[in-house]
Amino acid sequence: MKALLCREYGPIDRLKVEEVPSPRPGPNEVVVEVKASSLNFPDALLVQGLYQVKPPLPFSPGMELAGVVTQVGTGVRNLEPGDRVIASPGRGGFAQECLVPAERVSRLPAGMDYETGSAFMLTYCTSLHALQDCGHLAPGETLVVLGAAGGVGSSAIEVAKAMGARVIAAASSEEKLAFCQALGADETIDYQTGDLRQRILDLTSGKGAEVVYDPVGGTHTEAALRATAWRGRLLVIGFASGVIPQVKLNLALLKERSLIGVYWGDWVQRDPDGQRRNVERLAEWFAQGKIRPAVSERVALADAPAAMTRLLQRKVKGKVVVVPGA
Ligand SMILES: NC(=O)c1ccc[n+]([C@@H]2O[C@H](COP(=O)([O-])OP(=O)(O)OC[C@H]3O[C@@H](n4cnc5c(N)ncnc54)[C@H](OP(=O)(O)O)[C@@H]3O)[C@@H](O)[C@H]2O)c1
Repeated sequence: MKALLCREYGPIDRLKVEEVPSPRPGPNEVVVEVKASSLNFPDALLVQGLYQVKPPLPFSPGMELAGVVTQVGTGVRNLEPGDRVIASPGRGGFAQECLVPAERVSRLPAGMDYETGSAFMLTYCTSLHALQDCGHLAPGETLVVLGAAGGVGSSAIEVAKAMGARVIAAASSEEKLAFCQALGADETIDYQTGDLRQRILDLTSGKGAEVVYDPVGGTHTEAALRATAWRGRLLVIGFASGVIPQVKLNLALLKERSLIGVYWGDWVQRDPDGQRRNVERLAEWFAQGKIRPAVSERVALADAPAAMTRLLQRKVKGKVVVVPGA
């Protein structure tokens, strides 16, 4: 089978498509024929050796996928060859076949195609876990989403709207903001040209937002934190800007604000039942037409490195899907 291989941590253009042996399932594992997988920011960090996890070399990136189960290992109870599934293996999705622990596999929701399914797990599950379990976002509250046209950002817009919140989307260009509006954002802020803090205050009649979803970091974090309301919550999702901000804790004291870390990948291991419930809730919203992954590009395996580079250059909106069979 063909796989995009990372043989050494380093520049993205060293990734190459190679012929490798098909995987065989061990106990509690399944092999999935990958119909589609999707690109996430951590894939780009992983291959450069900049992520918190460093897989043994060589490996294939690709954290989430959709496809068909072809083999099941001993001990696997609820899956069999032929099942249509979505999965978050953490790596290995940019290949024609992928070995996945059975506990990381869910059924492809009814009515969902493989490309949509491949972009459904990581971003939407992160956003639902963040907004519901960590941020306790309530109907009628105002949420500010930073990096709102990106992968997790665009899912946060849809999840928050499904939860009944008002959404202010912040991003770096008019084109990206129009994309966010099409996804349901109520208001938008261009944080490249405007004053983020002042614009949030203007849009909330001086009160501030109840919750901020922050996958970007850098200077935007403090500006958004300063524009949160009494008992506002800032959800720390990631640092796509490359800068981990350092904020002064008097900002927390002054309005009883909270800074809340979100680590979906770890939470899933700690609360598999909670994760199962969240996937069911997301599948219901999908069936009701409330959420739908915003797939903006489809590429072949060999073109995944170029797409990864575009992602790092902030040139991607929504999600890029990789089709290994193309
Ligand atoms: N905590 C968790 O459980 C969890 C789960 C998944 C992902 N994450 C993290 O969330 C972050 C975003 O992931 P993603 O897949 O949504 O990425 P993405 O699709 O690339 O979106 C990131 C957004 O960040 C903004 N950005 C600002 N400065 C940037 C820079 N220097 N380089 C790249 N983007 C920049 C861009 O929007 P503008 O151009 O509009 O500024 C971009 O749309 C990553 O740090 C990832 O590791 C965390």
